[in-house]
Amino acid sequence: MRASRATRATRCGAAAEGANSFQPKLKGSLVNPSGARSRLAKPNALESATKADIEALERAVRSEAAPDASPVLICGQVCHSLTKEREEIILSMEDFMQDKVYKYLKPTEKCWQASDYLPDPAAEDFIPRVQELRERTLALPDDYLVVLVGDMVTEEALPTYMSMLNTIDATKDETGSDDTVWGKWTREWTAEENRHGDLLNKYLYLSGRVDMRQIEVTIQNLIGSGMCPKTENNPYLGFMYTSFQERATKVSHGNTGRNAVKHGDAALGEICAQIASDEARHEKAYQLICEELFRKDPDGMMMAFADMMKKQIVMPAHLMDDGIHTTRGSGNSIFEDFEKVAAATETYTTADYVDIIEYLLKRWKVETIKCTSEDGQRAQDYVCKLPNRLRKLMERAEKRMKKGNKTEVQFSWVYDRPIFV
Ligand SMILES: [Fe+2]
Ligand SMILES: [Fe+2]
Repeated sequence: MRASRATRATRCGAAAEGANSFQPKLKGSLVNPSGARSRLAKPNALESATKADIEALERAVRSEAAPDASPVLICGQVCHSLTKEREEIILSMEDFMQDKVYKYLKPTEKCWQASDYLPDPAAEDFIPRVQELRERTLALPDDYLVVLVGDMVTEEALPTYMSMLNTIDATKDETGSDDTVWGKWTREWTAEENRHGDLLNKYLYLSGRVDMRQIEVTIQNLIGSGMCPKTENNPYLGFMYTSFQERATKVSHGNTGRNAVKHGDAALGEICAQIASDEARHEKAYQLICEELFRKDPDGMMMAFADMMKKQIVMPAHLMDDGIHTTRGSGNSIFEDFEKVAAATETYTTADYVDIIEYLLKRWKVETIKCTSEDGQRAQDYVCKLPNRLRKLMERAEKRMKKGNKTEVQFSWVYDRPIFV
């Protein structure tokens, strides 16, 4: 258990390093070694620093999305990069949230619940209904199950996502029951999302096809590890991340549903489709918020878009760990191998990633937005050219992959039955 924790800490540290890989090595005296907040070091701490040290520190403590901000470094990551002016823009959006965005959440009485799609344990036909479910899922292949488990584990790490939203400046729920549109949005969004993991977890449990204990260990480890989306507590970056991510989960759940139908489980197909339709509402809401930010602050939002694209959108469950996967075979993390299976089953691929960027560019009519600053115009040029650049890279990577042989991967989630990717 201790070893596993150490592994997680190292990987999390690595993720944080990767998030700021442009950062030079800095002398300990310049950055608070405890990892606590530190603005640029106080004058007496800089006495022994060279000019190069100071320049390096200034570069490290700079937000690419908001060069005019004075962020802080926390555990090596740029944090709190929202400027006062942009905070005011966010705070001015209360009416907009109320009138235009809030409708994308559904009142509880109109929402489906997990029980609607599961055998009723109080009904007389509970056992035969469970039997039917188990027979349906017998035809689901192992690679399909791995993807479904990965999707479920991702949904089950919901405490992390709510925590992340509550680190975002100007929109966080300060009291846990804030009477602001932002606080209410975060809580009610979380409440809607909570049904996704619940339903998939119970369905998989009843199927008897997967090792629930290993899955539960993975969920516990993942929540314990958190995530590293590199959003700098900045709502501009945060809403850009969620705009992308909600669409990515919609694509992934939609394809998981279509594949379930192909494998003969129409009921599971319906479940995934319902979850995908929730994600579709959420993506619309977040994209609408970004649209408004593009309208109010085109340059600021363009830089946020370019910054998130440069950092790349990490999947929310990128730190998942079942405690044994890395010790065997290729040494890949379970997330890396899960991503490969998701791509091989065409559930979520690099092409989907590029399609989402292209969709967002069109959705926000990014090409036609008027940026007045040089930074904004540079950011606009970068994002508009990005899909073509990524497609070229993707084609080269695909050619390399086709030349390579398939390798065997084992997932504890499906009792180590071999999968070839
Ligand atoms: Fe979800
Ligand atoms: Fe969602």
